[in-house]
Amino acid sequence: MSSRSEGDNLILVGFMGVGKSTVGRELERLGGLCLIDLDSVIVQFAGHSIPEIFATEGEERFRDYEAAALRSLVGVRRTVIATGGGIIGREENWKVMHQLGPIVYLRAAWVTLRKRLVGSQGRPLADAGLELRQVEELWRRRLPLYEQADISVDTDDLNATEVAMAILQKIGRREGKINA
Ligand code: S3P
Repeated sequence: MSSRSEGDNLILVGFMGVGKSTVGRELERLGGLCLIDLDSVIVQFAGHSIPEIFATEGEERFRDYEAAALRSLVGVRRTVIATGGGIIGREENWKVMHQLGPIVYLRAAWVTLRKRLVGSQGRPLADAGLELRQVEELWRRRLPLYEQADISVDTDDLNATEVAMAILQKIGRREGKINA
């Protein structure tokens, strides 16, 4: 078991468009876990949609909501937490995520993400108005942070079910408890 991971939840991290929510639903189905989408918790906290929060309060305030939403989950059990792509930006979030359980990075090549993000809506940092080159730069800057996760799965050639199965296998091998 990773020395820093304490809980029996699974935390999914990765860039926008990699499929964290879809894989989360597959983990819910296949792994008998509950599912929480952190972006939905943020929307409940703030009482506004994510684009509205970015537009009216700005990104830093969004990050405050995001950190608070994550902290509010401490104590949940056997739950997959699908995070937003920027959760890895604050050190405090890493501490909370490690407390919650193993952190799983869904890795994908830029060509894969690019296809999924073309015409994206509802994501202020990747919407059609922004040049994809800027989004790619953001992805590159974040890569070393994502790589700090406890385990990672290359998702380019896998569908969501296969990714979920790969995660359960890796977790089962490493921790011997999620699959128990
Ligand atoms: C963000 C990703 C989004 C959402 C917000 C910011 C990011 O979530 O949290 O738009 O900074 O990468 P998804 O990764 O689920 O799209």
